[in-house]
Amino acid sequence: MHINEIIAKKRDGGILSRAEIEYFVNGYTAGMIPDYQMSALLMAVFIRKMNRDETLALTEAMLHSGDIVDLSEIPGIKVDKHSTGGIGDKTTLIVAPIAAACGVPIAKMSGRGLGFTGGTVDKLESIPGFRTGLETANFIRQVHEIGIAVIGQTANVAPADKKIYALRDVTATVEDLSLITSSIMSKKLAAGSDAIVLDVKCGRGAFTETEEKALQLAMQMVEIGNAAGKKTIAAVTDMDCPLGRAVGNSVEVIEAIETLKGKGPADITELSVLLAGLMVFCGGRAKTPEDGKAQAVQALRNGTALQKLAQLITAQGGDAAVAENYSLFKQPRLKRVVIAQRDGYVTGIDARAVGIASQLAGAGRMRKEDAVDSSAGVFLHKKRNEAVGRGDVIAEIFSDSETGAESAHEVLTEAYTIDDSPAAESALIKRIIM
Ligand code: URA
Repeated sequence: MHINEIIAKKRDGGILSRAEIEYFVNGYTAGMIPDYQMSALLMAVFIRKMNRDETLALTEAMLHSGDIVDLSEIPGIKVDKHSTGGIGDKTTLIVAPIAAACGVPIAKMSGRGLGFTGGTVDKLESIPGFRTGLETANFIRQVHEIGIAVIGQTANVAPADKKIYALRDVTATVEDLSLITSSIMSKKLAAGSDAIVLDVKCGRGAFTETEEKALQLAMQMVEIGNAAGKKTIAAVTDMDCPLGRAVGNSVEVIEAIETLKGKGPADITELSVLLAGLMVFCGGRAKTPEDGKAQAVQALRNGTALQKLAQLITAQGGDAAVAENYSLFKQPRLKRVVIAQRDGYVTGIDARAVGIASQLAGAGRMRKEDAVDSSAGVFLHKKRNEAVGRGDVIAEIFSDSETGAESAHEVLTEAYTIDDSPAAESALIKRIIM
């Protein structure tokens, strides 16, 4: 096969065969095809697009470029969950214990935060003693014993995606739906679960800003997941404003615990029972998504989901007493408040700006190797459509750094829009694709 001919074929609007796609992906991963030729192909794909078969072939070529986690020893239908990324999105900390309490085995590998988005692993590690680096054998044994384990990425999952994603990032080719689908789905398919529930975000804090684009992405990911043999369901949900009130690491864990106690914010609770319900349905424990949701609500009400989180914390070396005593978390050195400059209603909170404020306070990292401050973050005392008076505290920043808190304060002040009357309500859950 000729590399130039494959590039030219896509440049001229042709459809690539599975063999051509595999040749390109394998050659690039092995270092035989240079960056400049992969860049040319990516731009040709970006402009000319890929059809369903090409996207499936690309996904499977990337999936097979590295390890595929084998969870077959664990009985039952294992269900994974993925969010395309949001600010204050602590739903994994809530839906994983709910689904496990409903009998769905959860063997989950999660990521760390980068830039202004947080990661489940950083959040879990804010619990004193919690270990996210289990050996595979222990990971599997724990799921056998208590039905749930959540760890950091151990396997060499989809190395082709790592290389291609880094190139897309610097060649203006990130925002193509087939490239996003193959990138996300290759990693999810390699993670070993039998079914996948996707939360595809739209709005200012999401990388697919419009609902229409998020819907297209959701439909494509569901199609590719199912074509690759895993039951896949997606929800398209709003990410214009942050989810819940807490953004950071330990602050998000506390909010997740409050939600599991039935005292969480309405948006987090609504999204969590929806996603957990879909997981219970995908895991074969409910006949319909509605029945799955009813079971999820029940697990929240009867306390079994909270007990499951406590079991998870204990099994991974953490101090489960944090669930009853939040002062056991590391405390921030500084607290700074943001004050409303006028009377009115909060009509918008720019999710991306809140994520940046939290990162500046110390909760996020600029580069992969940076450390995060587990107690840093932001708490939104006022959310969309809540009334405020001039001088009210609308938000609070937690940090160990004077300069970090100052920069976060500047960004967070700008993140709020306050008007005379409330904004039109917008639905949190836009669509379910199955
Ligand atoms: N997240 C991914 O993992 N890949 C993309 O292409 C976009 C977001």
